[in-house]
Amino acid sequence: MTVPPAGYTARHEPVLLAEVLRGLAVRPGGSYIDATVGLGGHAEAILEAAQPGGRLLGIDRDGEALCAARERLARFGDAAVLARGVFWDIANIAAAHGLQRVDGVLFDLGVSSLQLDAPGRGFSFQRDEPLDMRMDDRAALTAAQVVNEYDKTSLADAIWRFGEERHSRRIARAIVARRPLHTTGELVSAVEQAVGRRPEGPIHPATRTFQALRIVVNQELDFLADALSAAHGLLAGAGARLVVIAFHSLEDRMVKEYMRRESSACLCPPRTPVCICGHVASLRRVGHGATKPGDAELARNPRARSARLRVAESLGRLAAA
Ligand SMILES: C[S@@+](CC[C@H](N)C(=O)[O-])C[C@H]1O[C@@H](n2cnc3c(N)ncnc32)[C@H](O)[C@@H]1O
Repeated sequence: MTVPPAGYTARHEPVLLAEVLRGLAVRPGGSYIDATVGLGGHAEAILEAAQPGGRLLGIDRDGEALCAARERLARFGDAAVLARGVFWDIANIAAAHGLQRVDGVLFDLGVSSLQLDAPGRGFSFQRDEPLDMRMDDRAALTAAQVVNEYDKTSLADAIWRFGEERHSRRIARAIVARRPLHTTGELVSAVEQAVGRRPEGPIHPATRTFQALRIVVNQELDFLADALSAAHGLLAGAGARLVVIAFHSLEDRMVKEYMRRESSACLCPPRTPVCICGHVASLRRVGHGATKPGDAELARNPRARSARLRVAESLGRLAAA
């Protein structure tokens, strides 16, 4: 495991920071969970705003990220607790740390700058290194296994669905023809063979394929709905907040749908004369739709370009099972 270079963490700017603090309605003495603590950027600002008396549990599956967060949050002493685990296990992790209810939960989904920038992890097409892409280096599945073992159709489907890549079939064909692939450089060559070397708009031709493989390797969408539901179950009474930043349209759609559903008083099909579903609204959506980064933030941090933040507030009763 490598520790981030000196100064790296301090230079890292968390996405939509002011909007996260507003969304969580952070208050002194409050308790919060950052379910994707990463380098601890949001967590640090939440802890600052929650003093005196505030506490935060930060969760991440990535040991390197936790090292960076631990250093960044050290000055908060026992008020900051960090745990290694997956966010769909948030209820058990919270219980293990004595937290039954909290005032707010944050999810800042996707990959961190550290994961993209640290050498040797295989997330970036800008360096030639082993095809890994695991956020958790203890996990079994690597990107090399996906590109070398998936059949052509499954590979194309994943690149299409998770990469929103219109040349997915051509790329899958080129990958299969060049097997075995061991490095990110070999994957970039396969993509370039399929679609050419010229960037499409502002992004590199391999961007979407790399994104798709990362999502598959880390099961990024598989348990998101379960995680949102578990986090919702941890919200203390009325006014506690759930804040989610998504970077992928499928991810954002899941968040939007979850918040829409749990803020609806009835889920019966349209034109049902009398409600028969028995559903009860347990959330209220805060704000109008998703918040996106403004021009000033994008100029400072172009990686924020696809971020979408949504906020919901607990109505003080739990979701119907
Ligand atoms: C965008 S970064 C978060 C950055 C953080 N908000 C900050 O300010 O530094 C996302 C983090 O979520 C972690 N992550 C992604 N999926 C996860 C999961 N299922 N369980 C736990 N952590 C996860 C990644 O390892 C990564 O460190």
